[in-house]
Amino acid sequence: MCSKKHKRCKVKAKHIISIKDLSVDDIEEIFALAGKLKAEGKLAKSEALKGKTLGLIFQKPSLRTKVSFEAAMAQLGGYAIYMSPDEVKLGQREAIKDVARTLSRYLDGIIARTFKHQDILELAKYSDIPVINGLSDFSHPCQALSDFFTVREKAGRLKGVKIAFIGDGNNVCNSLLYICAKLGIDISIAAPKGYEPDKEVYSRAFEQGKITGAKITLSNRPAEAVKGADIIYTDVWTSMGQEKEAKKRLKAFKGFQINSGLCSKAKKGYYIMHCLPAHRGEEITDECMESKHSIVFDQAENRLHVEKAILLLLLK
Ligand code: CP
Ligand code: NVA
Repeated sequence: MCSKKHKRCKVKAKHIISIKDLSVDDIEEIFALAGKLKAEGKLAKSEALKGKTLGLIFQKPSLRTKVSFEAAMAQLGGYAIYMSPDEVKLGQREAIKDVARTLSRYLDGIIARTFKHQDILELAKYSDIPVINGLSDFSHPCQALSDFFTVREKAGRLKGVKIAFIGDGNNVCNSLLYICAKLGIDISIAAPKGYEPDKEVYSRAFEQGKITGAKITLSNRPAEAVKGADIIYTDVWTSMGQEKEAKKRLKAFKGFQINSGLCSKAKKGYYIMHCLPAHRGEEITDECMESKHSIVFDQAENRLHVEKAILLLLLK
């Protein structure tokens, strides 16, 4: 049992490192519970995680992930301990497996944000407590879950929705691909040559899409990808850890900006999404960020509700 209010816990995954770890039932369970929690509102006091402590080990900066998980624990009656990059020096000051085994003796769950995806896998391998990926160079599963919770809320459905992802085939794009393939949602990606999503992720998603009905396409033509889309999604051209490549990337991504010209090709009533933080004037214009089509702050808000559901289901 998760709590008195939320009785049934069907989620089978111990860790959430990738969307791959979750079944469709798990995702539905998370969405259903997140919906209930959102309806209850942040002032609804809960003791569901009383006595539970969550650790956040971060190698990179964060606003949404750090604050939403910390707020989630506070709202559920638990406690969160944030460990900044300099405090833990994951894998430098001591071996990751030693960090994992030590923290397992103190905590009830870990959120990890790392440069290398492999480091989160290692943390999970040696951890007796749930490890949740708070972003790696390879994936950002909590983001993708919150995003499709948001899509369902806004569009009223998931089936039949078409999403166009324009820009870098990065961690966020990989997780969107996996979740679309799993839930049977069409996704068209437009990325410059050399910046496509991970080949293995793409081909796995493509194969799974054949079974679930998700039409998955990849090109380097943004206008084509956006045609008939319900959702236009983008992320930064230069992710955390890639700062040295910023100049080169600015050049490579020219023509991949979300602006009113590109958006005019989408379906009437389309939505603009961005995981944030945004580099306004690069991957997205100010105008699009501020337009009535933009649901970027609903996405950001839903991180909180979805993560509360994840914590309730995993830290039970
Ligand atoms: N979208 C997201 O994960 O934001 P932060 O980097 O601020 O956590
Ligand atoms: N792709 C971005 C996402 C930030 C939430 C990054 O990794 O920096």
